[in-house]
Amino acid sequence: LVTQHSGHHTVDLEPVGRRVRIRAGESLLDAARAAGVELVSLCGGEGWCGGCAVRLLSGAASSPTASEVEAFSPAQLKAGFRLACQTVPFGDVKIDIPPDSLTAPQRLQVEGLEAPVEVDPAVVAVDVSMPAPTLEDLRSDLTRLNDALAAAGLPAVRPRRAILEDLSERLRAEGWQPRLAVRGHELAAILSRGSRLFGLALDVGTTKLAGYLVALEDGSTAAKAGAMNPQIAYGEDVVSRIAYAGEHADGRRILHDRLIEAVNEMARQLCDTAGASLEQVVEAVVVGNTAMHHFFAGLPVAQLGRAPYVPAVSDPLEVQARDIGLEIAHGATAYLPPNVAGYVGADHVAMALATRVWEAQGTVVALDIGTNTEISLAARGRVLCCSCASGPAFEGAHIRDGMRAAPGAIERVKFSHGELRLHTIDNAPPVGICGSGILDSVAALLDEGILDRRGRFDDSRPRVSKPPDGVVQYLLAPARQTGHGRDVVVTRQDVNEIQLAKGAIRTGLEVLLAEAGIDSGQIEQFIVAGAFGTYLDLGSAIRVGMFPDLPHERFSQVGNAAGAGARQMLVSAAMRRKIAGLLPRVEYVELTTHPQFTKKFLASLYF
Ligand code: FES
Repeated sequence: LVTQHSGHHTVDLEPVGRRVRIRAGESLLDAARAAGVELVSLCGGEGWCGGCAVRLLSGAASSPTASEVEAFSPAQLKAGFRLACQTVPFGDVKIDIPPDSLTAPQRLQVEGLEAPVEVDPAVVAVDVSMPAPTLEDLRSDLTRLNDALAAAGLPAVRPRRAILEDLSERLRAEGWQPRLAVRGHELAAILSRGSRLFGLALDVGTTKLAGYLVALEDGSTAAKAGAMNPQIAYGEDVVSRIAYAGEHADGRRILHDRLIEAVNEMARQLCDTAGASLEQVVEAVVVGNTAMHHFFAGLPVAQLGRAPYVPAVSDPLEVQARDIGLEIAHGATAYLPPNVAGYVGADHVAMALATRVWEAQGTVVALDIGTNTEISLAARGRVLCCSCASGPAFEGAHIRDGMRAAPGAIERVKFSHGELRLHTIDNAPPVGICGSGILDSVAALLDEGILDRRGRFDDSRPRVSKPPDGVVQYLLAPARQTGHGRDVVVTRQDVNEIQLAKGAIRTGLEVLLAEAGIDSGQIEQFIVAGAFGTYLDLGSAIRVGMFPDLPHERFSQVGNAAGAGARQMLVSAAMRRKIAGLLPRVEYVELTTHPQFTKKFLASLYF
């Protein structure tokens, strides 16, 4: 008989070789988080995603829950397979973490547009000289500095406390001849003569972070980096993270801190690459969906998770970087552009800025596909925008063998002369299917007539089977060819998930077109932004009906346009003003209550 002991237990995590102590009653997922090992936890620990599978090698633990009985075969359960989020150790245990339960390494997207903008940053470098104090000249250090600015014809500064703490020491260290980073009446940093000024542009995605270190004198990108958003360990999508923040004491602070820690780490890396110091990073621009924006700035998120989903703030925000824990220059400001609505965030605003869709003269669509897909349509002098709940299927979630774009993910699927061809990332043996692969699979199966337009499989065809306790499936890669020794399949349910996702996106587009009174054939330019948007095969997206059937030359796949927009706002105060001017023109269309939504959605589910 095993009973639950009180006190603490030790958890050994293999093969990563970490060991942590957890309190009795905490789960293996808690243990992994405490050890800094990020397990796939798409459902935020509710037990339905199956992402956090581990194997219990030794020690006693709670009996398998109903979710685990559903997730694993009896043989797997016998072999010790458990869902980390469901399993509570009763003593010291040792677990093995299979590679596909780990969120890293991942392929990251940092490319983007490099549209030229006029350089006109909010922070500028000013070199000043002042005499050292003497018994005859007892002016305070700040007065001395402001007198020197006045002599140069510049207004006085009112530095924040964080800068004042450093002021006396820095002026002396620089021999009274510093380079100041000045932002209006604020002092962002006191630097050495000749130091270059940099800004940090950040695109905080639900899944990934992209960071760019930009030289403020010419707007060039000195370094770029990508990282995973560590909040993934607390839930794959914003909804589960908002729930985590609400359900745990300190939940919101934990999510804020984890995000800021990752950003600080990224800032250090970027500075190392560019040979700069963190003190030279005098401004930041941060874009993200509304939830990421709120987590980053430390704002309340509970109201974002409940209808009618209003943001705490939609105006542009300027916060002191040090106030939110961002370890760049002592007086640096972080600028967060405005949000359009609860589900159309500053990342879409930044994307719209970079792609110029809100200023377009013709008929232009720009969208960024994610768990929520925001679409903007410029037509007939109007700008319409909406957010579609497309779900995380294209990020590999809710797909039986789905995974994110990491080595071994099947990313391309096609038939050539009736024969199935697969391509995996890094040519590694397949272990799952990423977003572009699942989209290709469905398109290819439709082309071959293995799927019909309702999404049903023709079960007379080779590789189509129905396991006794499962749903109809198509075998993409048999166990003997895969990296984990299990079949990789596309199931009827996976096809259904793709129908829902592509249906949501197409419906959003059709509603906007209807509002503007035009049809899809009139779209002159169709801009697809974002990581998935860059990797997806346009032919497949059209084949499944996610995108309208336009000539390919009307499409452009532009990479991380949100990051590009953030960089533009970093180097150009004019761009910030421009956004403020464009925003009132944008008409937000709420889809869920739109009279045509249900009809269009049902029609768009067919292939
Ligand atoms: S099943 Fe454990 S995190 Fe989803």
